[in-house]
Amino acid sequence: MTHDQTRPGFAAVVVAAGTGERAAQGLPKQFAQHRGKPVVRHSVERMLRFGADPVVVAIPKDEQERAEQALAGLPVQYVFGGATRQLSVRAALEALVSSNPQMVLIHDAARPDLQGEVVSRLLAALERTRGAIPVLPVVDSIVRALGQTMESTARREELHRVQTPQAFRFADILSAHCDWSGEPDAGDDAQVLHAAGGTVALVAGDPRLAKLTFAEDFVTDQPAIRVGQGFD
Ligand code: CTP
Ligand code: MG
Repeated sequence: MTHDQTRPGFAAVVVAAGTGERAAQGLPKQFAQHRGKPVVRHSVERMLRFGADPVVVAIPKDEQERAEQALAGLPVQYVFGGATRQLSVRAALEALVSSNPQMVLIHDAARPDLQGEVVSRLLAALERTRGAIPVLPVVDSIVRALGQTMESTARREELHRVQTPQAFRFADILSAHCDWSGEPDAGDDAQVLHAAGGTVALVAGDPRLAKLTFAEDFVTDQPAIRVGQGFD
């Protein structure tokens, strides 16, 4: 394993406890094959390669065997996720209490193409704020609509598309998740920290961090790579 020794240490949470309804893969999308490996294996391998330690993976209660197969040979800790993404993150953060990391990256398993430059930007930003998130500009115009009728326009310069991983000081994001009393399914962890009064910095995201959401997002024309042989 090679990783940038100049980066400060950080832990990672990879949330892989969803059902992947929209992707319609016949199994939760994070375990489907994409570019030769299960989606979640890409995400976790990248996290490990970029130096995350420890890595906690939230998995569905009834998918332990499939998760362990997908991640065979990788040094990760498992927790069972919850009914919403927010509950899955919270369970994983609680599992990190004993290691008490200073910083944590929270990442969607469904974003397999994690980029080291984004990790570096997030960790650098975290030196001056409590949270940092990768964003992309909105390039299309945006309208509000009621049903199929346009109501008004929105200023796209003020809007950003938010990705993961999102970076936080561990103590702050843990207490924000434990105190969360908003919508049962928070949009993301930045929203949870922000609601608790934390400042969230924006850093440049990367189009390669796109979330696999629909069936057409998966690339399946590569032969499966045998798992269980360490990681690259
Ligand atoms: N996730 C989770 N626990 C949940 C719901 C989602 O850990 N209860 C994870 C998913 O596994 C995914 C990430 O959160 O890696 C982002 O969620 P999303 O893309 O919405 O995945 P799903 O909820 O599984 O998909 P869908 O909404 O299409 O059912
Ligand atoms: Mg979902």
